[in-house]
Amino acid sequence: MDKIVIWGGERLEGEVQISGAKNAALPILVSSLLTQGWNTFRNVPDLRDIKTIKSLLGHLGASFREQDGNVLQVNAERIASCDAPYELVKTMRASILVLGPLVARLGAARVSLPGGCAIGARPVNLHINALEQMGADITLADGYLEARAKRLKGARVYFDISTVTGTENIMMAACLAQGETVLENAAREPEIVNLAQVLAAMGAKISGAGTDVIKIEGVEKLSPVEAEIIPDRIEAGTFIIAAGITGGDITLKGCVPGHLEALTKKMRDSGMEIIASEDSIRAVGKDKIHSVDIKTLPYPGFPTDLQAQMMAYMAVADGSSLISETVFENRFMHVSELQRMGADIKVQGGNAVVRGVRRLRGAPVMATDLRASASLILAGLAAEGRTDLSRVYHIDRGYEKIEKKLSALGARISRVKE
Ligand code: EPZ
Repeated sequence: MDKIVIWGGERLEGEVQISGAKNAALPILVSSLLTQGWNTFRNVPDLRDIKTIKSLLGHLGASFREQDGNVLQVNAERIASCDAPYELVKTMRASILVLGPLVARLGAARVSLPGGCAIGARPVNLHINALEQMGADITLADGYLEARAKRLKGARVYFDISTVTGTENIMMAACLAQGETVLENAAREPEIVNLAQVLAAMGAKISGAGTDVIKIEGVEKLSPVEAEIIPDRIEAGTFIIAAGITGGDITLKGCVPGHLEALTKKMRDSGMEIIASEDSIRAVGKDKIHSVDIKTLPYPGFPTDLQAQMMAYMAVADGSSLISETVFENRFMHVSELQRMGADIKVQGGNAVVRGVRRLRGAPVMATDLRASASLILAGLAAEGRTDLSRVYHIDRGYEKIEKKLSALGARISRVKE
């Protein structure tokens, strides 16, 4: 197992290229199941989760052609199986995304229930209820969801919680259903808009992506496409916070400032200078960090995927910050590790009160989930002394070459064998 070692105290300066968005690439790669022939996807990030979804699609019968420079070709002409096994699904919950497309394409799917993860139970009831409303017959047997439908029928689906992968799953299923599907209280994330663009290019009839009402008119067939994955707004946000926590000056290249407004507003309120241009952001940290309050919400609200990183930043701010996590029920796993580095944090239910301290101290810490790992790396960059982060396989799920990108900015960071 690898670990990441950081010597804190360096100001990060320079330019960093933002990679393709993990949470756009996952549903878009899965959408190839709806087509027969070669799809070409550009700006696909090189991440563990991408390797996992490729293994799952390969298990189902898809084939791949790797090109250089983050280009991936996928051909799902021959889908030989509709079975998504537990061994693969348990390592990544987003595997549930194959459920809708398999039922739409083959009329059948057998997908292992994902199970919970470090940040919560993460049920998939909304995915199931919506597919049942579209005429699928779904039973649970031996931990597997078994779904059947001769042909899905369009339906009016209301999500009582705006679910990102739920919206994506049903959007893909609806493309080949008979008649019109209307998704209400749909998620509005940019990754949904990216998926809708790809589906429309394949020949789907979709309107409203990016709003909370999405309409899909089913068609008979979709065709393979060439498409581009949008930049990763969570990776970008993580680097902006890295500039803030180290008092540095980082220019992010190839990002979409419009996807980060909830964060950049808070970073300006904390005293940072944020200069946005068309596809880049310059983030300049200051010596004094003002505390700000955070409440995570579905997009365009403050992203839950940046909550842990923001908590590390507030741990060294001047004053107290109230951080409310409203999306997941257990997304404070990073708190106890930050406390080991000297952070003063009190958790009460879904709220954490963070009282800024002058300086954190490096320590051996353990990653528990993807964004908690990012939070601990940020804390290590600002802390006095050495931080050893173990279980770095969590960070490799969602950040491409993170220690290379950070050391190019002046961080003293390396990956070593444990
Ligand atoms: C997506 O997860 C992202 N993952 C998550 O990013 C992100 O944190 C989350 O959306 C919220 O923005 C991908 O896109 C692959 P949800 P998802 O369904 O779709 C409840 C990361 O770090 N819910 O929007 O699984 C659920 O428990 C990951 O990159 C139900 O109750 O999240 C949660 O409380 C972590 N029943 C809330 O809704 C359902 O059927 C929002 O979850 C579905 C969800």
